[in-house]
Amino acid sequence: MVSALGREPSAAERDLWRQAKAVAARAHAPYSGFRVGAVVRDAGGGGHSGVNVESASSPAGVCAERVALGAAVTAGQRELTAVAVATADERDALPCGVCLQALAEFGDLDVIARIGGEVRVLRLRELLTAPFSR
Ligand code: THU
Repeated sequence: MVSALGREPSAAERDLWRQAKAVAARAHAPYSGFRVGAVVRDAGGGGHSGVNVESASSPAGVCAERVALGAAVTAGQRELTAVAVATADERDALPCGVCLQALAEFGDLDVIARIGGEVRVLRLRELLTAPFSR
């Protein structure tokens, strides 16, 4: 049963997830209607947000997690500890495989996401056990 995945979030983790949910309102998702927000937390405790940005040319769209990752790296933060992902309207969402691979570059982050209607915390490596590496 998928809702048994992971563990319960701490208060701080739940707060990070709420931040992701708040930012999801800014998503540009006119094609899917699936508005996603993400916040990446760095080792210093800073948060970096992103939303999904869709495009009329669908492959040009990008997920919220990779936008948040770009914001963290742009801010000079490469030691990352967690990513929270949430939708604007109470739906389950886990990072896709491409986002997991992109995030894996920066460590085995905690992934805070709504699964089976509950906010849960998993390690990235539980979701992507063997990321590609050179
Ligand atoms: N999406 C994200 O931004 N993050 C996820 O974790 C899952 C999917 C986006 C991609 C696309 O814009 C929309 O949600 C529907 O697939």
